[in-house]
Amino acid sequence: MITQLNKILESAKNEIQKAGSIHELQQLKSRFLGKKSEIMNFMKKLGNLPREERPAFGKAVNEIKMKISQILDDRDQKIQDQLYEKSKSAESIDFTMPGRKREKGSLHPITKVWQELEDIFISMGFEIAEGPDIEDEFHNFDALNTPPDHPARNLSDTFYIEDDVLLRTQTSTVQIRIMYQHKPPIKIISPGSCYRNESDASHSPMFHQVEALVVDEGINFADLRDVLNVFVKKMFGEKIESRFRPHFFPFTEPSAEIDIICLKCLGKGCNLCKGSGWLELGGAGMVDPNVFDMLGIDSEKYTGYAFGLGIDRIAMLKYRIPDMRLLFENDIRFLKQF
Ligand code: DAH
Repeated sequence: MITQLNKILESAKNEIQKAGSIHELQQLKSRFLGKKSEIMNFMKKLGNLPREERPAFGKAVNEIKMKISQILDDRDQKIQDQLYEKSKSAESIDFTMPGRKREKGSLHPITKVWQELEDIFISMGFEIAEGPDIEDEFHNFDALNTPPDHPARNLSDTFYIEDDVLLRTQTSTVQIRIMYQHKPPIKIISPGSCYRNESDASHSPMFHQVEALVVDEGINFADLRDVLNVFVKKMFGEKIESRFRPHFFPFTEPSAEIDIICLKCLGKGCNLCKGSGWLELGGAGMVDPNVFDMLGIDSEKYTGYAFGLGIDRIAMLKYRIPDMRLLFENDIRFLKQF
């Protein structure tokens, strides 16, 4: 009987080693260890044996069963390992395949100008300040000396979220926040997004401005003129002159609009400057004493200047971008050129 059992073990070993799949292994398992297997038949014969032989026989059958079980497990592990290796090599890189091209990113023209202008103003001793895009009427209008009946406050121009809550229409709001929080001397710029209900080739509902505010004793119009002159030359080149044109802003007195000489024709007159020889860059002026008074800054002691420039406008002029909307369409063919 023992030799018969060993024979079964031998044939199980042979068959199991040959099995190539988990499915085959399962079949072999039921063939060698299942209810109708030879081993099970042996077990059934156990009852016919003399009592004293039964324990030794039972033990021998169990040992063979355990050995077959172990062989099955080993083979199962081997097949699993082979499958894993196979799937790993299927996933690995095929060096003969053509590569997948990665588009290289570049800085957006607005980001470039933004960073450049920050560098220029920092080099002149300005600090960077920030304010929220969502504002109230006080910071966006009232404190900037803009009366309730001013046309800029119309629903048709300004995006209101609720009564008294709006998307700021200008970065001048940051002037108010800074003067509220800090005593002079103040010397800040504040670049950021602004929102107005308008859209055409030179206006976008979301656009960017940089605000500047300098407040101290003895600050005058010549200081304003000087800082803008230096900025324009650093941003656009030594040859580029700037000029002030008298204008009106509610929060500055006197006020001016800032022009630079046309970058394309250098003042002769062309299609870019519409024949005038000049391009508009933003607004500026001396802080209106009313604004100081509203914020509790002594307007007898302190004077200040402020200006606001369009960042998108600077980018358009610098890179000769004819339509502002191009800046925000995010067409990769356009952005690739910068
Ligand atoms: N906030 C003005 C605008 O959006 C621009 C401006 C003009 C800002 C004069 C200033 C300033 O600080 O003094 O049109």
